[in-house]
Amino acid sequence: MIKRMRMQVSPIGVFDSGYGGLTVLKELIKAIPACDFLYLGDNARTPYGTRSFRVVYEYTLQAVRYLFDQGCPLVIIACNTASAKALRNIQQLDLPHIAPDRRVLGVIRPSVEKVAEMTRNGHVGVLGTPGTVLSGSYPIELGKWSDGKVVSTVQEACPLWVPLVENNEIDSEGAEFFVKKNINHLLAKDKNLDTIILGCTHYPLLIRQIRKFVPPEIRILEQGEIVAEKLAGYLERHPEIEKRISKGGEVVFQTTESADSFNEKAALFLGQEVNAETVHF
Ligand code: DGL
Repeated sequence: MIKRMRMQVSPIGVFDSGYGGLTVLKELIKAIPACDFLYLGDNARTPYGTRSFRVVYEYTLQAVRYLFDQGCPLVIIACNTASAKALRNIQQLDLPHIAPDRRVLGVIRPSVEKVAEMTRNGHVGVLGTPGTVLSGSYPIELGKWSDGKVVSTVQEACPLWVPLVENNEIDSEGAEFFVKKNINHLLAKDKNLDTIILGCTHYPLLIRQIRKFVPPEIRILEQGEIVAEKLAGYLERHPEIEKRISKGGEVVFQTTESADSFNEKAALFLGQEVNAETVHF
């Protein structure tokens, strides 16, 4: 049972549009268990993947401001869509005014650095929401940060995967149909793919379906572990942030939708009971 949080804590904020960020939170708890965490799922407004830049930016900024108000010195945007569409603006335009001493990090840069280490022939595929794919963030960032190791990036938008996860349809025939369709499209775009990035934090929840259609020689990058590993390194390099995070090993869950349905599904995804509260911001 995940405990309720004490008063006066300064947890790491972990934000996603819904349940997907739980795949990141799970690994963060394993990597840095002493830290307190506050998970916020904007389930009332999910999915973000089909929304415009302006809307995703506004929603994400609201969530970040809210997490700062709860005392978080550091916020992890555990959502590729929000990382792709909002992170840069928040870091460069908003943080200097609203909280110059706090940090907001995303999930795309750590994934890009890792894929550069993993690929053998430089042919990479990205599965993501329509928003992430249209933003071009992965091809752009792979171009900048892969040290020339990635020579080709193809992408496939999977608009139905997030709703399938949010509605707990992960083992259904419908999920199988759409996973197969999108994977086949991606594979047809580059016959030499050797690594696929699951560029949406919801997608690891569909991993059993995904593995059915991805040939075994192609590696699949799931982000949770990578983000956790990179964050642990970041905290070592930034003691000024690390020392401000409270260390009670406690995790609080908040959702903008019904707490009961969040509890039910989060337990399924996390493998343990949670006791969330509904918040509005
Ligand atoms: N988990 C989010 C991501 O990584 C899902 C986005 C959505 O709400 O559509 O992109």
